[in-house]
Amino acid sequence: MDREMIVDAVSKRFEDGTTALDGVSLEFARGEFAAIVGPSGCGKTTLLRILAGLEEPTSGHVELAAGGGRRDHMAMVFQEQSIYPWMRVRENVAVGLHGLGLALAAARAKVEEQLDLVGLRAFAGAFPHQLSGGMKQRVSIARAFASERRVLLMDEPFAALDEQTKIGLHGELLRIWEHTRKTVVFITHGIEESVVLADRVYVMTGRPGRIHARVDVPFSRPRDVVALRGDPEFGRLVVHVWGLLREGMAA
Ligand SMILES: Nc1ncnc2c1ncn2[C@@H]1O[C@H](COP(=O)(O)OP(=O)(O)OP(=O)(O)O)[C@@H](O)[C@H]1O
Ligand SMILES: [Mg+2]
Repeated sequence: MDREMIVDAVSKRFEDGTTALDGVSLEFARGEFAAIVGPSGCGKTTLLRILAGLEEPTSGHVELAAGGGRRDHMAMVFQEQSIYPWMRVRENVAVGLHGLGLALAAARAKVEEQLDLVGLRAFAGAFPHQLSGGMKQRVSIARAFASERRVLLMDEPFAALDEQTKIGLHGELLRIWEHTRKTVVFITHGIEESVVLADRVYVMTGRPGRIHARVDVPFSRPRDVVALRGDPEFGRLVVHVWGLLREGMAA
């Protein structure tokens, strides 16, 4: 498989002396869905911000196989709400189109298409306060996919949602991803979530974060996110990742 991005020995030490990351090396293949799990405070968000080019590593570097500036190739879905409360749903999605230089009609069509994919067409004219938490995260996802960036960086996008909404969104996210096959880096605390979604799960240690293990997820695509949970192999893999996480925290 073609390479998308290389993370080479990235460390991050903040000015106050906190070392968040210590020698993180990873390689993402084009079109792969990678998940990163790790204990709270181990540097996951810091790593994602470095991948996005929003933060500089203290040492090491990140390289895109395609070359060029990283910011132009990355779309990010944040841990906390990241849609604008004063904009309607369709305007929030259209933010993702900035810089693409689309004509107005093409931009409108693109926004409609994304709203359809996340099932929010009927809410195009609504404001965020009129939406549920799950619907707001769907707006963020629609915006990220609309942007046509090569790489999608997602930082616990579903952490604040109830289990039922979350599982629904797993299905939606995978359906949209199958459609576009962007490279996804998905950060989560949820072991089950990581195994449901990803081709590869990276397990981080406690702070300073290092990569403790890499687990390949063998399930075929497209995946049925509900049926998969009943597969004994799924249960086995979840327990395996839990074990690695515990081991990593002790390391
Ligand atoms: N700008 C900053 N200045 C100083 N320390 C920071 C800064 N940003 C993060 N840190 C510290 O770096 C460490 C890693 O933080 P980070 O947000 O990356 O963790 P995380 O793995 O995303 O945690 P969580 O799972 O709780 O979201 C923490 O100890 C945090 O306090
Ligand atoms: Mg975080």
